[in-house]
Amino acid sequence: VIDIRTLGGKTGYFTFDPGFMATASCESKITFIDGDKGELLHRGYPIDQLATQSNFLEVAYLLLNGELPNKDEYATFERNITRHTMLHEQLTKFFTGFRRDAHPMAVMVGVVGAMSAFYHDSTDINDPAHRMIASHRLIAKVPTIAAMAYKYSVGQPFVYPRNDLGYAENFLHMMFSVPCETYEVNPVLAKAMDRILILHADHEQNASTSTVRLAGSSGANPFACIAAGIACLWGPAHGGANEAVIKMLEEIGSADRIGEFVKRAKDKDDPFRLMGFGHRVYKNFDPRATIMRQTCHEVLGELGIKDEPLLDIAMKLEKIALEDEYFVERKLYPNVDFYSGIILRAMGIPTSLFTVLFAVARTVGWVAQWKEMIEDPTQKIGRPRQLYTGAAARDYVAINAR
Ligand code: ACO
Repeated sequence: VIDIRTLGGKTGYFTFDPGFMATASCESKITFIDGDKGELLHRGYPIDQLATQSNFLEVAYLLLNGELPNKDEYATFERNITRHTMLHEQLTKFFTGFRRDAHPMAVMVGVVGAMSAFYHDSTDINDPAHRMIASHRLIAKVPTIAAMAYKYSVGQPFVYPRNDLGYAENFLHMMFSVPCETYEVNPVLAKAMDRILILHADHEQNASTSTVRLAGSSGANPFACIAAGIACLWGPAHGGANEAVIKMLEEIGSADRIGEFVKRAKDKDDPFRLMGFGHRVYKNFDPRATIMRQTCHEVLGELGIKDEPLLDIAMKLEKIALEDEYFVERKLYPNVDFYSGIILRAMGIPTSLFTVLFAVARTVGWVAQWKEMIEDPTQKIGRPRQLYTGAAARDYVAINAR
């Protein structure tokens, strides 16, 4: 605790907490994490039960509304989401303004932010109806934007949503259907995709969610706030980690080079870290990683992939790191991203789209957290303080005299 009086003559105290390691920025009823126990609950429901027994849209309803829906509530919610899956045709023109080799996350930040310029009936944050439509629009349209970013990058025509399909199925359809060919969505892969979406749906006040809340605290519209969250998620220490895991496994190349990389990860003079290892909150295991590991084996089994060299390296790396004193002492375990990259790769999702998929899933959490904040009567603009370490007050010196 720093005494602010010694710094600026003001009374009172503030805490100096770089990286907000020990600061709660808000009250929330959405997600509970016990990092020591490896526990993750959404509105009280354990993540493993939701991932294995529920579906993504139902979890989305739960995060937004606080309770699981009954049949009628679910049907209405599903109708509301599927109604909004199409993009304004003018928005589809944005994609062609980007270079084809643009990173899809750059495209996502741009197009989601641009939604503010199109949906004027959902930008008044003080109107509950606006907030509701904005939530539905974001959850419905972000997969369409993600799939269009992909199609543009590979030079294929956009595939419009099919509202007779489930949420994950429709996403796979928009990604992989091509004109003149029949594409049937594999139900095992659709289920796995749905599970990946559930596992990434919310994770309380992580960096991107805090970004969304901070942006929203100024009264910015929801589309601008979610675009800010996407920008934050892009970083390799956050959502970019699953992409970084695959790049790392490819760089390792063969099992006999694992030792070399583990050594580098422990060397404090080398910035290299084992991607997919460690978590700010989970210090025993990441409960999402356990389900993801199992799903990974199911998907590879369904696709008949027996000798996947990257999976082989991943499994050996996991074993070596889990037995290494450095990782044990620091409680560094595989996180959710360690396995998700391998599953997505096996499904044919290009590496550059991994973080985009994370953004599709997390949009639900961002929207729920944004709504909770806006609806909290005690909500204030977020305004952290700093510990100033710069020069003391001094007089300006003209340029000729410097
Ligand atoms: N490889 C090697 N060493 C590591 C790793 C790693 N992946 N992660 C942490 N460490 C070491 C640090 O060097 C530090 O060592 P020291 O005490 O000797 O200095 C110690 O473990 C603690 O690390 P911090 O950076 O203080 O931990 P923090 O909670 O700030 O970071 C983070 C968590 C960012 C996830 C980190 O573990 C990391 O960079 N992991 C790799 C990237 C990754 O997988 N990110 C995904 C996170 S999950 C998600 O976003 C869904």
